[in-house]
Amino acid sequence: MKIFFITSNDGKVREAKALLEPLGVEVIKKTIEYPEIQAGSLEEVVEFGAKWLAEILDGPFMIEDSGLFIEALNGFPGVYSAYVYKTIGLDGILKLLSDVENRRAYFKSVIGYYDGKLHIFKGIVWGRISTEKRGIHGFGYDPIFVPDGYEKTFAEMTTEEKNAISHRGKALKEFHRWLKENLKY
Ligand code: IMP
Repeated sequence: MKIFFITSNDGKVREAKALLEPLGVEVIKKTIEYPEIQAGSLEEVVEFGAKWLAEILDGPFMIEDSGLFIEALNGFPGVYSAYVYKTIGLDGILKLLSDVENRRAYFKSVIGYYDGKLHIFKGIVWGRISTEKRGIHGFGYDPIFVPDGYEKTFAEMTTEEKNAISHRGKALKEFHRWLKENLKY
C-alpha cells in the first residue's frame, strides 16, 4: 500500500521509509504548506493540520509533529522546537544548559493518519542533552540528544539504529500495527 506523508522534512521521510518500506508500505513525500498552530500540545497541532489538509486532499495521508522537551527548562522548547531550532539553534540550547546539572529530556512524536477520520499514534524516547554537538547523521536536535542506555547521540547513529529506539520509530511502529489490523493489506 501507498501512504502520502505531507511534510517538507526529508529526515522524517527517510526515517518513515526505512521503517515502513520493508514492511510493504510505500511512503511518498508530498510537500504542502499547512498551518502549524501555536498550541499547547503536539496533538492539537496535528489535529488542526490534518483537518485543514483534509479539506484540500482527496486520498488518505499522514502528517507528523514532534518536539524536544527539556526537564530543567520545564519542557521548553516543546511545541516551540522548530522555532527555537531556527533561532537560537543547538548552540543556544547548550548555552542555556551550560551550568545545569539535570540534562534529562525527551523527544515526542505524534503521527496523524487521516482516512476520513483522524487516527493518532505517539512515541516518546527519554535521554539527556549532551555537553557538545556530536555526529553528522539525522537532523534537527540529533547532535545533542543521547538516548537512555547509550553514549552516542542520535546523530552518531544510522537511520536504522535511531528508528529502533526513537520517538518517531515507536510512533511509526504503532501506526504500522494499526494499518495491519485495520486495512489487512
Ligand atoms: P516539527 O515536527 O517539524 O515541527 O519539528 C520540530 C523541531 O524538532 C524541528 O526543529 C525538528 O528539526 C526537530 N525534530 C523533530 N524530530 C526530531 C528528531 O527526530 N531529531 C532531532 N530533531 C527533531
